[in-house]
This record gives sequence, C-alpha cells and structure tokens, in this order.
Amino acid sequence: MQQQEHLWWQKEVIYQIYPRSFQDSNSDGVGDLQGIISRLDYLQWLGIKVVWISPIYPSPMADFGYDISDYQDIHPLFGGIRDFDQLLAEIHKRGMKLILDLVPNHTSDQHPWFIESRSSKDNPKRNWYIWENGRQDGNLPNNWLAQFGGPAWEWDELTGQYYYHAFLKEQPDLNWRNPDVQNAMFNMMRFWLDKGVDGFRVDVMWHMIKHADLIDNPINPDYKPHMATCEQVLHVFNTDQPEVHDIVHKMRRVLDEYDDRMMIGEIYLPIHKLVAYYGYDSKGAHLPFNFQLLTLPWNAIAISNAISEYEGALPQKAWPNWVLGNHDQPRITSRVGLDQAKVAAMLLLTLRGTPTIYYGDEIGMRDVPIPFAEIQDPQGLNMPDKNLSRDPSRTPMQWSGNPNAGFSIAKPWLRIDKNYKVVNVETQKKDKTSCLNYYRKLIQLRQSEPALRNGDYRPLYADNQMIAFTRKWEGDNFLVLLNLSHRPCYYKPSYEMLSGIIMASTSMELEGQKISGNIELSGDEGIVVKIES
Ligand code: NOJ
Repeated sequence: MQQQEHLWWQKEVIYQIYPRSFQDSNSDGVGDLQGIISRLDYLQWLGIKVVWISPIYPSPMADFGYDISDYQDIHPLFGGIRDFDQLLAEIHKRGMKLILDLVPNHTSDQHPWFIESRSSKDNPKRNWYIWENGRQDGNLPNNWLAQFGGPAWEWDELTGQYYYHAFLKEQPDLNWRNPDVQNAMFNMMRFWLDKGVDGFRVDVMWHMIKHADLIDNPINPDYKPHMATCEQVLHVFNTDQPEVHDIVHKMRRVLDEYDDRMMIGEIYLPIHKLVAYYGYDSKGAHLPFNFQLLTLPWNAIAISNAISEYEGALPQKAWPNWVLGNHDQPRITSRVGLDQAKVAAMLLLTLRGTPTIYYGDEIGMRDVPIPFAEIQDPQGLNMPDKNLSRDPSRTPMQWSGNPNAGFSIAKPWLRIDKNYKVVNVETQKKDKTSCLNYYRKLIQLRQSEPALRNGDYRPLYADNQMIAFTRKWEGDNFLVLLNLSHRPCYYKPSYEMLSGIIMASTSMELEGQKISGNIELSGDEGIVVKIES
C-alpha cells in the first residue's frame, strides 16, 4: 500500500527569524519587515519553505516584543500592517509559509486591557488578569518566583492587591480561566488567520493556566547558585496544570476553522509531560516543540536514548519535531564547537520529524560576548552574576564583509561578532565546503529523499562516541552515522548493510563515495549513506 505523504508543516524545515536582528532596511540599526522581504530569496535558495518570526507587534520592548501592547498591529520599528501584508504575499508568492509568534500567556502592562484592569477593583477587565490579596501575615500571596528574577507578584498601590507575572512585572499574566479572555484571544487568532497566516508558535504554552488555589511551589532540592533564581522552587503549581489542555484544544478548534493551518507550542517539559500537548486524539498542538537537543548534554548515549524515548512516547498520529537553537538559548556552535555543530545539523536534518533552524546557525554564527554596559536582555540585567543574558545568541545576521556585516548602515542594536568578515553568507555562498553550503546540501537531500522526511526511525547502535540509525521508506533505506566525539570511531554494520553511497558528509569530499563493510569515522564526522541492496 502506498503510504501517505505528509503536510507542509511535517515535510518542510522551519527557519526562525529574530526580526530585530535579521536585516535592517531603514537604517535605524534594528531589523524590520522590509528587511526580511529583501532576504526571502536567500531563504528560498537555502531551501527554506517555512518561516517563523518572533513577535513583531506593538510593544514597549521590556522583553523585546514578548510584552505586547496591541495584538492586532505591527510595531513601527518593524513597519506597518501594509508591510506585513506585503511580507505575507511575498512569502506565499514563493510557495513558502508564515508562522507568527503568538504570546497569549501575558500582555504588556501597557496593554489597554491591563490599564483598565488595574484602574479599579470593579473594572469589567479586573478579572482578565490574576489579582490577589497578600497573606494575612502581610506576605506575598504565595512563593511563586518570576522567570526573570524576584517574586512573581507585584504590589499595585492603587487597588491594594498583587498581580501575577511569570516573567517581568511589565508582563502581567492573563487569566485564561476567564471566558472573555479566551474569546478575545481566539478572535485575535482569527484576525491573523483571516489575513492568511499559516500558523502560530505559541509562547510558553505550558504556563497558560495556574493552579486555582495558588498553592505554594515545593522547594527545589537541586538548586545551585549558578541557576536562575526562579529555579529555587519547582514549578509544580504555576505551570502545566491539567486544564491547560482544554485551552490548547480550543485554540486548535479555532485553527481548524481554516484549511491547513498549524500551531507549535513552546513547552519546556520532560518528554512524558510534553507529549500530552499533542492533545486527546492529536487535537492539541500540531507540534509541541521538542527541545531535547538544546537541553541534553552533548553525549551520544544520552541523545540516542532520548530520541528513542521520544519516539516511543509519541501518541498515535503525533508528528515529531526537533530544535537545535532559538533566541533564548546559547547557539549550538558555542555549546559544542563548530565541528560538532555540523554533526548536530546532520542529526537535526535526518531525524524523523520537522526540524527548526535558528537564523545564522546555517553559517555557524556563535554567541557574541556582550560587554556588561551593552546588555539589553532583562534576564541578563536582572541576574547580573549568572551569565544568563540571551543577547549573545541574538546578534545581527552576518550577511557580508561590508560594514556591520551588511545588516545595517547604522549602528546595530547589538554588537556584531568580530568574525563577520570571514563568517558571513556572501563568503560562504562561494565556498563549496562552507557551513552554509553544507546546510543547503542537507536540506536539499531531505527534500529530495522521501525516506529522510517520512521514513521510519530505527536506532541501530550507540556508544559513548557515536549514534547510528536508519530511515526507511518504501524501497529506500538510509543509514546515518554520527560521531559526537573528537576522536575517530569505528562502526561494524549489521548484515542488512551490504554497501552504499555517501549522500552527505561533514567532510564534503566523501560525498558520492561508495562504502561497504566496516566504516571508520574521523572525529566530528557524520555521514548519510544510501544503502544499496
Ligand atoms: C518565551 C520566549 O521565547 C522568551 O523570549 C520570552 O522572554 C518569554 N517567553 C516570555 O514571553
């Protein structure tokens, strides 16, 4: 029987754009929508068909756009609604799809809803946010801590109550138990879906409902001083509450009013909890983001085990996905080094499931040291001794060796890596052996080989150096061999593997070579072999 081909969000690679840092078109040092439009041909050349853009809505920028003051407009820094319409049209013209960032858990404290809500206790919008009295002993309502430092409760003098904020005090959490909030947000989703947006990446989906009784969180026995201060407690009662799944399901129903739209959930949870976000009968999030490659130590056995655990935990009909970088985490190149980052890219692009690439990773951009006086990220500013600023992985895209790496003719909002004259798109495009051409090759291979998109994942072998697995689809069979260490390693194939051709390799000179029998890999080497038998 012919097996079914998959939908666009299952077949294609997702590319995350951090809009402040992609391309500036109006010389203010900050990226914008016209800048993105001017780079769509590049993305098309790279083989990208799906673009996710971090928030572009009006915002006081306390958390760089994740504090929204109007859900249905565009921040003037990025352009206007006409620029947005043009961007969407240009994306669709190229047969590409657009995923917007949706931030439903919290608004900015400058959002008109919050301004109303805090104006008096009997304002109709009071119950749109989470207001609470202090404890009788004069203490905070409970011991919940904010992600960016300090307690999660902010005292409001005017009405004499506290409000809850999981992140900054400038980002009050909405009360998703309130049906009016739900309807307002669903209508906002429809606004963008009516425009033709293809999907949403939903910010902190697992935060959206908190325990109704605001129970104290347990103390984290494993807390260490280098960790973010909010890790002092375990987030048992302020996140991942059972009722969140009803909300996710309702959001899914809104998407299902339209053809072919999708929703990704940003969720940092262990696998068994993460997969619940696919929802009953897979009617929840299409893709609950799987961040294991970001969070696990770079160790072949640990990663191989995690892949198997994830594959095994997926509900029926659930489609997997993998992420190697985003705007909240150190870049892969800085975590494992450039050579291993290429092995990691091969893993990302050959595993079963939708891969997400973070802008700049395709040219091996690394975290840029930002002097203390230039730190912008509130997470870095609020916990200055912990090196938690996310700025280093948010620096401007390195397009060329021109001033400011071709990102802007003005001083960029964040400094650019000093290596930009060597590490940039223009230079790497010309070099067949560059990281960029390597990424492009892997993306093309994935697109041209149904086995790499749809095939079964079968783990073959893992030890403390290497991971080996196959991808099988109809008559095609691929072997992927990855050396996650710097030392050579040796693979003894099973009887199944008679001989094959190397279709992609971290050292590109191996491509097209025939191999059979035992296989030796150099340190930091990976190969994708099409098995002939
Ligand atoms: C997750 C986003 O990815 C991050 O950048 C942001 O700071 C928090 N959510 C709060 O919205």
